[in-house]
Amino acid sequence: MYGMIHQAAREMIHDLHGPAAWADILQKSGLGDESFISAQHYSDEQTLNLISAISVSTGKEVDAVLEEFGGYWINFTDSSSFAGIMRMAGDNLFSFLANLDRLHASIKTSMNKAVTPSFEVIRSTETTVEVMYRSDRTGLAPFVRGLFYGLLARFGETGTVTHVDQEDGCLFTIDLQPDPAA
Ligand code: HEM
Repeated sequence: MYGMIHQAAREMIHDLHGPAAWADILQKSGLGDESFISAQHYSDEQTLNLISAISVSTGKEVDAVLEEFGGYWINFTDSSSFAGIMRMAGDNLFSFLANLDRLHASIKTSMNKAVTPSFEVIRSTETTVEVMYRSDRTGLAPFVRGLFYGLLARFGETGTVTHVDQEDGCLFTIDLQPDPAA
């Protein structure tokens, strides 16, 4: 995956655990400074080595690291050079979710080696959204869960995110909690 993703992981660890933890993770991952160039594409193996090293060093399960990283990614991209693309994807959760494929398509114009997932809104009511997540990769559902929680927070919503594996993808259900002021 692109170095930008490795940079986000580095920033998350610096924020949450400090530079000493990062030095330990870097050493465990076997990655060097050359693996953190934003616009360079690296093998998924390197990215997964980084996630595993974070798991070993922090004592958190890999799935918990992925979920935390999903939430962090939303804040990271919002303060990156892609902030404009994030804003253009929609001003509420529903339109944003419906625009995720367009968002990744516009990213691919500058990151043409990116292999991005697809998100299809299957059903949407005032309080529930069902989104089918499809990817060439496996094991990233906890990352998506964290991303969706991050998006809920971004739009000032609270709710729960659950998912079930299906034959052609992973079906996520986002249940919004009603606004107590409404
Ligand atoms: C401007 C914001 C964003 C940027 C710049 C971005 C960029 C990227 C890039 C570069 C990759 C890795 C692909 C590769 O290197 O092969 C990726 C993967 C991914 N992105 Fe985004 N993304 C953004 C927002 C989002 C959002 C809001 C979601 C929310 C659901 C999301 C979901 C994912 C997932 C789940 C993957 C993992 C790849 C997979 O499942 O196969 N991204 N994205």
